[in-house]
Amino acid sequence: MTVAYASGKVILFGEHAVVYGRPAIAVPVTQVRAQAMVEGAARGRGIAIVAQDLGQTYLLGQAPPDNPLRQIVVLTLQRLGVGLAHDLTITVSSTIPIARGLGSGAAISTAIVRALSKYFDKELSPRAISDLVYEVEKIHHGTPSGIDNTVIAFERPVYFVKSQTCEALRVKRPFIIIIADTGVQSPTKVAVAEVRRAWEREPSRYDRLFDQIGEVAIRARRAIEEGTIEEMGHLMNENHRLLRLIGVSSPELEELVRAAREAGALGAKLSGAGRGGNMIALVTEETKGAVVKALREAGAKDLIVTEVK
Ligand code: PMV
Repeated sequence: MTVAYASGKVILFGEHAVVYGRPAIAVPVTQVRAQAMVEGAARGRGIAIVAQDLGQTYLLGQAPPDNPLRQIVVLTLQRLGVGLAHDLTITVSSTIPIARGLGSGAAISTAIVRALSKYFDKELSPRAISDLVYEVEKIHHGTPSGIDNTVIAFERPVYFVKSQTCEALRVKRPFIIIIADTGVQSPTKVAVAEVRRAWEREPSRYDRLFDQIGEVAIRARRAIEEGTIEEMGHLMNENHRLLRLIGVSSPELEELVRAAREAGALGAKLSGAGRGGNMIALVTEETKGAVVKALREAGAKDLIVTEVK
């Protein structure tokens, strides 16, 4: 039996603009993770995928072709060069909330790729894992930037430019982020499609906003590498202002961002697709408790406190 894991992720800077080629920064969130377990099955049974959280089992041969679990298994076995004729049970489960910008889909795919490569004793580089996961992300998310699969496969804070750069970030001074959930589900695909329509209507306005977000991400990279945490907070606030202009905030997000700042956060912004989902707040050891309390009182459904290092 072989087990592998993949952690969640959160975007710190640059969401949406990253789809249009501007830089973004994302970090792993190790408090939540997906797990995949591979074990041999009775002869002739073929490959079964058990989605434990959904209480469902799919036989590879019978699963709908667009099932993402089926797709990642098929792509991985092809990439490993071992063919599809095996008797295996692949069981997946996850503690990463779904459709909340924490990368649950990419993490489940990554855990499956890692578990299969371990089971067949064929090593894959983080780049190869990321590329496989991206294939499935593309099918299900329309035009993903690729930042989710990259940060999750590399398991490091990354500075990312679509189809160009993926650099591991050196974090000079560890910092604390609170991730708070509005409780409003917001499919990434829908938000990304709406931003695309708005960009098509007003290309020059949106391109300017994307440029400004890109500038913020470049400055944020410097702040992270130099350990200037207060500057990071300012940049989070600026990034949030620009995301609001793009049209992806929501009353619930605004309320949590306001509550976090009033309670002493150094900066706060929505994170990921927006319209719901998560926001993040940058705090210190001293302000952590007050911000957690304020976010709860302001209606946050779920809170994760994570140190980025
Ligand atoms: O909601 P999330 O964390 O999956 O983030 C989506 C990030 C976008 O920039 C909006 C889309 C993308 O593909 O990068």
